[in-house]
Amino acid sequence: MAKNKRRFDYENLSELRQEIKRKSYSLPLCDDVDLLSEQVEVGGKVIPNSLCLNPMEGHDADANGGPSALTFRRYRRYAEGGAGIIWLEATAVTEKGKSHPGQLCLSEESVPGFAQLNREIKKAARKYHGDGDGPLTVLQLTHAGRNSAPEGEVEPVIAKHSELLDEEFDIAPDYPVVSDEDLAKIKRDFINAAELAARAGFDAVDVKACHGSLIHELLFSYENSSSKYRGPVENRIQLLKGVISEVKSKKPGMILACRLSVYDDVPYPDGWGVSKSVDVSPDLTDPIRLLEELREGGLEILNVALGNPFYDSFLEQPFDRSLAGQELPDRDPLEAISTNFDVTAEIGEEFPGLLKVGGGISWLREFFPNGAAAFMKEGAIDVMGAARLALANPSFAREILTDDGLNEENLCIACDACSQMMSDGVEAGCLIRDGEMYGPVYRKGRKIREQ
Ligand SMILES: Cc1cc2nc3c(=O)[nH]c(=O)nc-3n(C[C@H](O)[C@H](O)[C@H](O)COP(=O)(O)O)c2cc1C
Repeated sequence: MAKNKRRFDYENLSELRQEIKRKSYSLPLCDDVDLLSEQVEVGGKVIPNSLCLNPMEGHDADANGGPSALTFRRYRRYAEGGAGIIWLEATAVTEKGKSHPGQLCLSEESVPGFAQLNREIKKAARKYHGDGDGPLTVLQLTHAGRNSAPEGEVEPVIAKHSELLDEEFDIAPDYPVVSDEDLAKIKRDFINAAELAARAGFDAVDVKACHGSLIHELLFSYENSSSKYRGPVENRIQLLKGVISEVKSKKPGMILACRLSVYDDVPYPDGWGVSKSVDVSPDLTDPIRLLEELREGGLEILNVALGNPFYDSFLEQPFDRSLAGQELPDRDPLEAISTNFDVTAEIGEEFPGLLKVGGGISWLREFFPNGAAAFMKEGAIDVMGAARLALANPSFAREILTDDGLNEENLCIACDACSQMMSDGVEAGCLIRDGEMYGPVYRKGRKIREQ
């Protein structure tokens, strides 16, 4: 029988604990969730609590790549919800690196809109934080790489050929890989975008190196040693290292963050942080070396990511319903969260002084705070991020910190309708808990895809 036939139906923490024990998973759960209200310091700034809105694209940018009315709505709700970090979604550093025509994109034209968004977030957050320390705002910068689709049709920019990933994108064996010259230009695009983010007033920028983005793909471009950015590990990590250290020297007041995949769960040579033997067990040697070097270059926050969604989205984002036309994987969500915990804890042990943000546990529903506190208590992370939970309930932090816990009426049910909307090419939101706004969008997306 498939291991994932049992959907989430735990009445209480003790039932969930029993299941974890029965399956011999390592995932701990804490009764005491007070840790989540602790302040954290980074780069001379105080983060008012240990909860973070993790980044989620909404695909609702205006024609310039700046935030639209719908983008403002999303972030106003998140900011009012009280999370200590508002980690804004993947924002392209160049038009050609957008994964969708509606993806946010930083440029001279769009920067005033981003500045306005940052101000609105800080203002809306005062509803919860009052005159105390407000949330840290982090803007995620990205180049979508093989998933680039600035006009809607995929126009892949690939760092390497990959048997597993090329098939997914229908990429022919003779399709050109991005040249060193273009990579040097893309590096400059990241640095320019970070400068624009500083101008817009964000506290921090995140150089995205996960989820199959171009920088992530370079990290596992083991082949092609004639390229400056591929082959041995020092080449593969060079572009990311260069962006971090150059932004730090140009903008010393800017806090540098990286959402980094630490373990891809994709077989070598198509994955990073994986063993080179036949299985796909984690081998964190390269990610640890990279993080050591990024630390020297000025990295202050790590947001831990896992997996490559073009091969496996389940590890980081376990779900109970799959995308239309796809089979529900024969995997146990609790096993995925337990692996997340093991890998994150290993990183946590290596980097006690680095501010680490976790994620991927929205599937735990009302037990999210118990899982989050356990990750923190074990030293794996300092702050827990929520993505789908926040989409369903932008006030998740306020409810955890000041109410009697999460309102069960507003939980994410891991139905993956938000991912379906992304995949169908329409704006992404929560179908279940924000249905009035996103129900028509969801149905539009399904209709477009089915035609
Ligand atoms: C609709 C949607 C959009 C997302 N967009 C981004 C993004 O822009 N950047 C990013 O790093 N991760 C993105 N993610 C991944 C989430 O940040 C998060 O890692 C994932 O949903 C698992 O965490 P959760 O269990 O709290 O939902 C997205 C996820 C969803 C569902």
